[in-house]
Parts: sequence; C-alpha cells; structure tokens
Amino acid sequence: MRIFSVLLCSFTSLALFPIATTAFDTITGTQTITGNQTIVSAGDVFELGFFTRGSSKKWYLGIWYRNIPTDTVVWVANRDNPLTNSTGVLKIADDGNIVLVDQAANPIWSSNQPTAANTVAQLLDSGNFVLREENDENPENYIWQSFDHPTDTLLPGMKLGWDSKTGLNRYLTSWKSSDDPSSGNYSFKLDINGFPEVYLLNNQVRVYRSGPWNGLRFSGVPEMNTAFIFTFTFRRDQNEEFYSFELRNKSLYSRLLVNTSGTLQRYTWIDESKLWNLFWYAPKDQCDFYLECGVYGVCDTNASPVCNCMTGFEPKNPQAWYFRDGSDGCVRKTELNCANDGFLPLNNMKLPQSSSSFVDDGMSLADCETMCRSNCSCKAYANSNITGGGSGCVIWTTDLLDMRQYAAAEGGQDLYLKVAASDLGQGGSGSGSTGTENGSNKTKVIIMVGPIERSQDFLLNEAVIRSNNDYSGESPTDDLELPLFDFGTIVMATDNFSDANKLGQGGFGCVYKGLLDMLSKMLYSGCLAFE
Ligand SMILES: *[C@@H]1O[C@H](CO)[C@@H](O)[C@H](O)[C@H]1NC(C)=O
Ligand SMILES: *[C@@H]1O[C@H](CO)[C@@H](O)[C@H](O)[C@H]1NC(C)=O
Ligand SMILES: *[C@@H]1O[C@H](CO)[C@@H](O)[C@H](O)[C@H]1NC(C)=O
Ligand SMILES: *[C@@H]1O[C@H](CO)[C@@H](O)[C@H](O)[C@H]1NC(C)=O
Ligand SMILES: *[C@@H]1O[C@H](CO)[C@@H](O)[C@H](O)[C@H]1NC(C)=O
Ligand SMILES: *[C@@H]1O[C@H](CO)[C@@H](O)[C@H](O)[C@H]1NC(C)=O
Ligand SMILES: *[C@@H]1O[C@H](CO)[C@@H](O)[C@H](O)[C@H]1NC(C)=O
Ligand SMILES: *[C@@H]1O[C@H](CO)[C@@H](O)[C@H](O)[C@H]1NC(C)=O
Ligand SMILES: *[C@@H]1O[C@H](CO)[C@@H](O)[C@H](O)[C@H]1NC(C)=O
Ligand SMILES: *[C@@H]1O[C@H](CO)[C@@H](O)[C@H](O)[C@H]1NC(C)=O
Repeated sequence: MRIFSVLLCSFTSLALFPIATTAFDTITGTQTITGNQTIVSAGDVFELGFFTRGSSKKWYLGIWYRNIPTDTVVWVANRDNPLTNSTGVLKIADDGNIVLVDQAANPIWSSNQPTAANTVAQLLDSGNFVLREENDENPENYIWQSFDHPTDTLLPGMKLGWDSKTGLNRYLTSWKSSDDPSSGNYSFKLDINGFPEVYLLNNQVRVYRSGPWNGLRFSGVPEMNTAFIFTFTFRRDQNEEFYSFELRNKSLYSRLLVNTSGTLQRYTWIDESKLWNLFWYAPKDQCDFYLECGVYGVCDTNASPVCNCMTGFEPKNPQAWYFRDGSDGCVRKTELNCANDGFLPLNNMKLPQSSSSFVDDGMSLADCETMCRSNCSCKAYANSNITGGGSGCVIWTTDLLDMRQYAAAEGGQDLYLKVAASDLGQGGSGSGSTGTENGSNKTKVIIMVGPIERSQDFLLNEAVIRSNNDYSGESPTDDLELPLFDFGTIVMATDNFSDANKLGQGGFGCVYKGLLDMLSKMLYSGCLAFE
C-alpha cells in the first residue's frame, strides 16, 4: 500500500494556516481525490484514501492511522464493492452526497442520503468521516457519518448499538481475510430486546454473549475493571441503546475489533515499541462460549467438569453430561408450586441470557423479589445495576441460559434463583449437580487407592472410590494428599454408583469399587500417586 498526501485547495485552511500546506481534512464541492491522494485529519491522526491488499488488484476507499507504521485500516467504504482495476474518484456529487466512482464514472459507493446543498466531507481526528453542511459543524446535524457504518473496528467515541432517530443498529463485521476487507462471517451486535447485551455471531449463530450492562461493565466481562485507562459508556433509553468507550488519555490509541477468525480483540498502541499490544480478547475460555452448559447449567472454569447444574436441577441427559457434553442442560428436580417456593442467592454470576427478560431500573431488590414471587413463570431476579450497593430489577420468566460463575475476586453479581422449598436447604450437591451459590459447597469426590481392610485383593490394581456428599471433614484421611477426580469420571468408573459396585457405607459416605481398567491405567500413567 502506498499512500501520499497532496495539496488540496481548502479555502478555510489556506486562510488560517497558510504554511501548513501538506494535508487537508475536508473535501468540498470543487475537489476530488483519486490515485494516491489522501485527506488527513487536522491533528494528523487519521488519513483517508485508496488502498489495496495482497495481489488482489482490488481497490478500496478506507481510513487508517496516519502515524502508525503498521498499516491499520479502521474503516472501509466499499468493502463489498471493490474498484477492480485502479483507484476511483471520491467527490461531492451534485445532490450533495459524497460518492465514489470508478475511472469510467460508474457509481461504486455513496453516502446515499436525501439531497442536500453546500455539503463538505471532513475527516475528523476521531476517525469519523462526516458529511455536513459547509457552515454547520454541530455533530447533531451531520448528514452522514462513517461512525454510523462501522466495518470491523470500534474506535473511541463510536457507538455500537441502536439509534431510534436513524433506525440504525450499528455493529461490527469481520474482514473475510487479512487481505480481503469484504464482509466476513463474524459480527458483534447489540441485541436491543429485554435487558440489552452484545453477541458475537458466526453467520447469525451466537458464539459469545457479553451479558447485560450492570452499571459498571458487561456482566460477562469482569476484565472491564480498567477504569483508570478507559471510560466505558452504556446508554439505554428511548432514543438510544449503545455501548462505547473512550480513553482517559485522548492521545493514546485503542481499538476493538472482530478479527477474521471470529475473536473480539482490543488492541492498544504502545508507542515505545511501535506495536499494537493485544489488551483483551473474547471468547477466551470454554465458559465464554455461548450455551456451553445448556439451560440451567452454570459454567465454572475452576470446576471440573466445567458444567454444573444449578441447585435444584439435574442433567437432562446424564449420559451426555458425564461425557462432558453439557449442551442438553439441566432440568428441575422438583417442580415449583408457586405457593411456597423460595429464592437461593447465587454469587458471582454472569447473568443469564437477558433478551427476553423484564427490566425496571426504578425498582428495589425487595420489590423485585415480590414481583418474581407473585409471577408463577418467574425463574430468577437480580439487580439491574450493581453500583452503589445495587438498584433496579431484572426478572427472567423464560428458561435461564448461558450462565457462568466467576471466582469471588473476579466479578459477576448476585442472581436470585427461584427453587422449590424442598431444594432450598440443599447444600448444593445432587446427582451430578453442584451448588453454585458458594464455591465452598462443591461436591468433592475422593479416590483412595490402596489396600483396604475388607479385601487384600484390592491391593495395587483395585481402587476404592468414596463420595463425600456428607463428608464430615473429620476423617483421618484429611491430611493425606489425595487426588481429586471429577464427578463424570467417577460416574463412569463406578457404573453410575451401581449397587453392584458398592462396597459399603461408613462414616465417610458410600464406598464404591471402581473399574479396574480405568483406574489402573491412571495409576500406571502416573495420574495417581501411591505409597
Ligand atoms: C502519485 O501518483 C502520481 C500519478 O500517478 C505519480 O506520478 C506519483 O509518483 C505518485 N506518488 C507516489 C509517492 O507514489
Ligand atoms: C476499469 O474497470 C471498469 C469497470 O469496472 C471499466 O469501465 C474501465 O474501463 C476499466 N479501466 C481500465 C483502465 O481498464
Ligand atoms: C463463512 O461461512 C461460509 C458458510 O458457512 C463458509 O462456507 C465459509 O468457509 C466461511 N468462511 C470463513 C472465512 O470462515
Ligand atoms: C447505576 O447506579 C448508579 C448509582 O446508583 C447511577 O449513577 C448510574 O447512573 C446507574 N447506571 C445505570 C446504567 O442505570
Ligand atoms: C498521555 O499520553 C501521552 C503519550 O503517551 C503522554 O505523553 C502524556 O503525558 C499522557 N498524558 C497524561 C495526562 O497522562
Ligand atoms: C484472532 O484473535 C485470536 C485471539 O487473540 C487469535 O488467537 C487469532 O489468531 C486471531 N486470528 C487472526 C486471523 O489473526
Ligand atoms: C444414573 O443413575 C440415576 C439415578 O439412578 C439415573 O437417573 C441416571 O439416568 C443414571 N445415569 C446414567 C448415565 O446411567
Ligand atoms: C409474568 O411476567 C411475564 C413477563 O414479564 C408477563 O408476560 C406475564 O404477564 C406475567 N404474569 C403475571 C401473572 O403477572
Ligand atoms: C455450605 O456448607 C456449609 C457447611 O456444610 C453450610 O453451613 C452452608 O449453609 C452451606 N451453604 C449453602 C449456601 O448452602
Ligand atoms: C461461602 O463461603 C465462604 C467461605 O467459605 C463463607 O464464609 C460464607 O459464609 C459462605 N456463604 C454461604 C452463603 O454459605
């Protein structure tokens, strides 16, 4: 890519800055840019012109950082309608629109607004390319702006989301490949229904969900605790629903993009090393993937397996569940009776999918509980805003989807789950389900390997499995370094705790005989230590 700036006549600039003759930021009715001509924003931050990539011979009108040596294109006008043999001509058309035509004057791209008079197109230091009336610089009155038509990149000050006035829901769409800016398969788009949240989509199929905005950050992005660097904004009213960010130090650069393989990335520019530093990305772990644990399942990267049913729920398809396919999710063990059901507080939760939830920012948590209690289809409730001790109300009347639990220090918030009275006192463990209300109440399963009193035959090649659903913590084995196995493995090893494999029951819980094969393999492959 070779780009060069040329002198364009701009009367105002000439009058004001007669010496600054290298670059102009505005195209007026009498000017065009073509070939290697560009316009440059007033503070020398962004540049607009034609570029090509790879050996494609396709030309695009785009915007890139002026002073960053790695060529970083942040916006493309004609991504899906390239110029095929040479650069085109960018100009103000007779009807006042900014238009791109090829060498034969065929229309390639246009701002496509109703006719206006005396328009100019200006590239701002924010990276926004705007069409406005010559003497009207009020952003409210822009006729058209590139910020309303994002490509794959969200710049500081850009709005990701919906505007009732224009009817636009602005979203990001990946490039097809690093050499091809045409629309790729991945997009990042605000779902404005219910309690709004942003989805990463692959051909319209959900891949990742940010979780709703909780007043501080997205419920599913605990890493957004970087207020000393960024200001994050989420507005939700009748006129607009959008997310945007700013840098506290406006002279630094940061951008959020959907890359060509479907990952959201935030980069920050490190001037010392002249590099874009990958600051954050998503999805970043198994639990970030949409519906990883199905309905009423909770994903926890610190648990093994990562999927657990919520308290009061059990796997819908235990076979698949124990083979680590959580997608079928969980079903309620005891139906609600809508008379004396109760609520279990679950801490540090990424809120469930919220597009069909009900939200009222004015309600208190107590009113929220009352509302949920009195509506038989209510499944859970939470504060809609966690700042300042919490306020507002969100209730879910449809199945709870796509939750995860964070470590206490990490993030998340309280979610109040409606459960049958009989499930209220439960310590959180059931058949394969682990309570999520408190990380300390997880089902621990301990495997003891070695001889036991009952039969010397078990020595070395047989093992004993003990589940400690009622583990007292007083057993003499407490201090031993016993390997821990997850529930799925144990279920397979004991043939689902079948009676045939049960050796006895004692103060520690039930004692089971495990599958010789599997456990001896573990022994010999070094998974189990044995003294
Ligand atoms: C810009 O384009 C003109 C005309 O094609 C050419 O003469 C000139 O060398 C180009 N400048 C650069 C720096 O590529
Ligand atoms: C470039 O392609 C356009 C059609 O896209 C054609 O009209 C024009 O003649 C071509 N110009 C050259 C120089 O080949
Ligand atoms: C995009 O999706 C289409 C349809 O599923 C698929 O054929 C194509 O390979 C995908 N392209 C990329 C770059 O992943
Ligand atoms: C959340 O609550 C705080 C303090 O109570 C308030 O300042 C803020 O505007 C609220 N945020 C939203 C998005 O309602
Ligand atoms: C903002 O960043 C610039 C460039 O790194 C630096 O020179 C300046 O001191 C910073 N300003 C503040 C207020 O930190
Ligand atoms: C997209 O981002 C992810 C996460 O940073 C990275 O692993 C992957 O290589 C990126 N894809 C491309 C094509 O650069
Ligand atoms: C395990 O046993 C439970 C209760 O007896 C039963 O509901 C479940 O289907 C069984 N799971 C498998 C994988 O066989
Ligand atoms: C329960 O809440 C849902 C969703 O807000 C609503 O459609 C329904 O009418 C409510 N039912 C009752 C009995 O209030
Ligand atoms: C967790 O377990 C402890 C000890 O058994 C118990 O006192 C506590 O009530 C349990 N917590 C919950 C929320 O069930
Ligand atoms: C959760 O666990 C912590 C640490 O073990 C404990 O202090 C707290 O009381 C527990 N909360 C509940 C609700 O059991």
